[in-house]
Amino acid sequence: MRMYDLIMKKRQGEELSAEEIDFIVQGYTRGIIPDYQIAAWLMAVYFQKLSARETVDLTMSMVNSGEKLDLSKVPGPKVDKHSTGGVGDKTTLVLAPMVAAAGVPVAKMSGRGLGHTGGTIDKLESIRGFNVSLTQQQFFQQLEKVKVAVVAQTGELAPADKKFYALRDVTATVDDISLISSSIMSKKIAAGAESIVLDVKVGSGAFMRNIDDAFKLARTMVEIGNSVGRNTVALVTDMDQPLGFAVGNAVEVAEAIDTLKGRGPRDLYTLCLELGAQMIAMAGVVPNVEEGKKHLQQLVDSGAALEKMREFITAQNGDAGVVDDPGKLPQAKYQEQVLAGDDGYVQAIAADEVGKVAMQLGAGRAAKEDKIDHAAGLILHKKIGDKVQTGEPLATLYTNDSSRMPQAKEMLLKTYTIGARQPEPRNIIHGLVTGQ
Ligand code: URA
Repeated sequence: MRMYDLIMKKRQGEELSAEEIDFIVQGYTRGIIPDYQIAAWLMAVYFQKLSARETVDLTMSMVNSGEKLDLSKVPGPKVDKHSTGGVGDKTTLVLAPMVAAAGVPVAKMSGRGLGHTGGTIDKLESIRGFNVSLTQQQFFQQLEKVKVAVVAQTGELAPADKKFYALRDVTATVDDISLISSSIMSKKIAAGAESIVLDVKVGSGAFMRNIDDAFKLARTMVEIGNSVGRNTVALVTDMDQPLGFAVGNAVEVAEAIDTLKGRGPRDLYTLCLELGAQMIAMAGVVPNVEEGKKHLQQLVDSGAALEKMREFITAQNGDAGVVDDPGKLPQAKYQEQVLAGDDGYVQAIAADEVGKVAMQLGAGRAAKEDKIDHAAGLILHKKIGDKVQTGEPLATLYTNDSSRMPQAKEMLLKTYTIGARQPEPRNIIHGLVTGQ
């Protein structure tokens, strides 16, 4: 087989066989096929598209390029959740203890990643002592005992995806539905869960900016999962404003704890109940999603979900005192409010720009080696539809580096659009995609 011929074949819009796709993926991962040929192939894919079958074959080839996590040692049905990412997305911090409290094991390996805030791992590390580097044995023991463990990814799950993604990022070939779907699903499948719940975000703070593309992405990923024997569903959810009020690391942990106490933001709580109910229904703990929501609500009301959070933090060596006293989380030296310049109602909040404000305050990293300021971030006081008066605080910003503050304030003010008419209330859930 020659890479040249496969580029030509795709350029002409023909379908590649599973063997041909595997030749490309393994050849590139092992460094046998050069970047420039893969770049050309990716561009051919971008214009000619992959069929559903080719997309599944690409996914499985990437799964087979590296290690696969074997969760068979963990008793019970294993369900994983994945979000395509957004601003203020701390759902894992709420869902992990909530779903574990329902008796369903949550085994999570997370990457650190780049972005406007840290990933789940960085957020958890804002809890003093929290250890994200468990050995495999510790990981499995904890899952058996506590039902939840979240660790930093060590081995390489789907290393082919890492190489492909890096190249897509510099060749304008990221935003193709088949390539995104196979990238995300290869990592989820390699991570070992039997069932997968996807949270596909849509809006100004998400990868997918329009609803049709979001549903297309959701359907493609659900199709991949189900065609390789992983029971997969997707919720398409709103990211046209940040989720909840907090954006950062420690501030998001505090908000997740509040949510487990039943005092969290409504949009975050609604979303967590919906995602969590899908997870425990797939695990067979409840007969359907409606019962699942009721069950999870009871676990929050009774304090069982919060107790599971304490147990989880303690098991990973963290200071569980943060659950009762969020003041034990890292506190920023500097905090300032951003005040509204107009009267009216909040019409829109540019979520992606709010993410950039968090980054400006020091909450995220632009390069792998950058250090995160765990205390940096922001809390919004107004969301879409809220009434605002001139001089009222729109948000409070936090940082340990005062030189970052003036620009962050200026940026935050520009993220809000305030107008005279009260907009319609927004739904957090736009729809559900299942394999049926
Ligand atoms: N996230 C991923 O993991 N892969 C993509 O291709 C896009 C978003």
